[in-house]
Amino acid sequence: MAQDRRRIVVVDSGGRYGQLIARLVRERQVYCEVWPVGAPAARYREANVAGIILCAAPGDPAVLELGIPVLGPGQQFRPEAADTEQGRTLLGDFLFNLAGCEATWTTESFIADQVEAIRRRVGGGKVLCALSGGVDSSVAAVLVHRAIGEQLTCIFVDHGLLRKGEAEQVVRTFRDRFHIRLVHVDASERFLSKLRGVTDPERKRKIIGNEFIRVFEDEARKLGQIDFLVQGTVYTDVLESGTGASQVIKSHHNVGGLPEDMQFQLIEPFRELFKDEVRAVGRALGVPEEIVGRHPFPGPGLAIRVLGEVTPEKLDILREADQIYIEEIRRAGLYDKIWQAFAVLPDVRSVGVQGDERTYAYPIVLRAVTSADGLTADFYRFPWEVLERITSRIVREVAHVNRVVYDMTPKPPGTIEWE
Ligand code: XMP
Repeated sequence: MAQDRRRIVVVDSGGRYGQLIARLVRERQVYCEVWPVGAPAARYREANVAGIILCAAPGDPAVLELGIPVLGPGQQFRPEAADTEQGRTLLGDFLFNLAGCEATWTTESFIADQVEAIRRRVGGGKVLCALSGGVDSSVAAVLVHRAIGEQLTCIFVDHGLLRKGEAEQVVRTFRDRFHIRLVHVDASERFLSKLRGVTDPERKRKIIGNEFIRVFEDEARKLGQIDFLVQGTVYTDVLESGTGASQVIKSHHNVGGLPEDMQFQLIEPFRELFKDEVRAVGRALGVPEEIVGRHPFPGPGLAIRVLGEVTPEKLDILREADQIYIEEIRRAGLYDKIWQAFAVLPDVRSVGVQGDERTYAYPIVLRAVTSADGLTADFYRFPWEVLERITSRIVREVAHVNRVVYDMTPKPPGTIEWE
């Protein structure tokens, strides 16, 4: 898409500076991509490349012969110092003086271009979107809806493993506020009965993943001929899959994985965007902050936070505790400082006391981490009084809970989730 758009290309062999520099360029409202070392000269010519930034040492001698302005280690530019005052000055000089770029790539221009491109591509076709309530699929649905309105149908598979009030919020937001055609499938019973007696985390994931596909297929079939499927793939997914020449259905570790034998063409409006750019698009489209700014939530949902067997009773306990936890984090103004915060219900009980009575009830584990990408993480250092308030509310307000503990393990060696 948008092959004719002028762009800056950062050449990187997969190091960590490529993406950083691409972001710095995009912050200056110039569109920028990361390409691997050794891309053929024809690709540069066809893509209307205005300038090249070399990141990888020893670089790519072939690009010097393309006749396209190059910024590289030869011009005092050090990729590792790109985000300093001097680096920014060099970068700005290169973009606007040498490469002749203009600062025109904005959230609004992106939305306008995509709306236009989606309309052209879809024509009179029918489009389907699997809506999870997460940032990427939510913003994608609203953007595609802006382009083609009633030709879009969203399917929201509610597996009964969502947090308190989440399903209602999705329905309220997309059906009532955006007037998007939304099929809300309440499949809780179906998922819970499949999960009965299952304790192994990977088996839980597999069961939920398979069941998700079945439910989705059943619903999609009812809609008749569908031509396109919307996916919220983001640029880092594309880069991780090897600078994405081919379009792959995103199944990576996710319940969003969809049937491979379904014959759709994919619409992936965010293939070029970093996650925070998707958020900016969402805000510009009026997607509520509670969706756009939300912490990541795993596809299998609360099934991997109720440790051991998943039962409706345990899900209810966890939902109540989790809601109090998140509410207090928001109230303390800490939500945006944390990558992910959630409660976990272990499969043990301990002795406590209430009034004159001995209790034998569940503990709740609180987890909160900071992270850049989920690959490594550190525990979040809460002010004591916030943890104290959360603890006292949970033991007071949530039945069957008599103890709260805080997980201080970084990743590694712990993972972020407990299962
Ligand atoms: P871990 O627990 O592996 O989590 O440190 C890293 C990130 O991945 C999320 N996660 C999942 N996301 N399906 C998902 O869609 C899953 O099965 C799954 N398991 C972990 C986790 O929430 C964290 O953001």
